[in-house]
Amino acid sequence: MSLIRVQNFSISLDGFGTGAGQTKDLHFGHAGDRLHEWMFATRYWEAGGSGGVDDLFLRQFDAGVGAEIMGAGKFGHPGWHDDPDWKGAWGPNPPFHTPVFVLTHHPRPSIEMEGGTTYHFLNAEPAEAAKIARDAAGGLDVRLGGGPSMIRDFLAAGLVDHMHVSVVPILLGRGVRLWDGLEGLERDYRVETTSSPSGVTHLTFTRSAGA
Ligand SMILES: NC(=O)c1ccc[n+]([C@@H]2O[C@H](COP(=O)([O-])OP(=O)(O)OC[C@H]3O[C@@H](n4cnc5c(N)ncnc54)[C@H](OP(=O)(O)O)[C@@H]3O)[C@@H](O)[C@H]2O)c1
Repeated sequence: MSLIRVQNFSISLDGFGTGAGQTKDLHFGHAGDRLHEWMFATRYWEAGGSGGVDDLFLRQFDAGVGAEIMGAGKFGHPGWHDDPDWKGAWGPNPPFHTPVFVLTHHPRPSIEMEGGTTYHFLNAEPAEAAKIARDAAGGLDVRLGGGPSMIRDFLAAGLVDHMHVSVVPILLGRGVRLWDGLEGLERDYRVETTSSPSGVTHLTFTRSAGA
């Protein structure tokens, strides 16, 4: 069955999935690259990088994924809606290589990018967006790409089958938090942790049968 999955979503120890003050040049606000430095050190990211736990988790990013849903804040900085030529924060050949459904209250025509990524813009509730993305995924899984606000909404709606969160040992103090309003979430999931020598703790949430 096609799953709705979160993969490699990085948060700080204090639960922030992005920093404060996101701009066109600072996609993660004051967090800079600190949430993702562990990724850059792996062989998945760059030849000559490290193997091991971090690398293995990262490799699940696109394995078996046929579509992504992302929030408008992952697609671009506040204000991108005012730029008719904005094609996302991910360059001409984005790392998704599937249909990507961008949730926004300001939809625009689809944009076909290099490498198999097509952005479609969707003003829809999480359940409807999940259905549309599943249909587009051709039997494969749907990845929820973030940011924290949209993942939180899908968790609150009970739509997430599997979630991998990477807890990075930094304290951001401000930004957008993942866990707000999700008290007791762990009751619906089997939660497992894997510690990496890099200092990152990988948490997987697998939906319990019947939850
Ligand atoms: N830590 C990580 O691994 C990771 C991964 C991905 C992204 N990020 C970061 O996360 C940040 C963005 O996250 P965020 O929480 O601020 O925003 P977000 O979750 O990306 O997007 C939220 C926005 O998406 C639109 N939206 C959400 N649900 C919708 C719905 N059901 N219908 C219509 N529109 C909907 C709304 O924007 P409109 O105003 O367009 O309607 C809403 O304000 C960025 O800094 C990004 O770099 C972090």
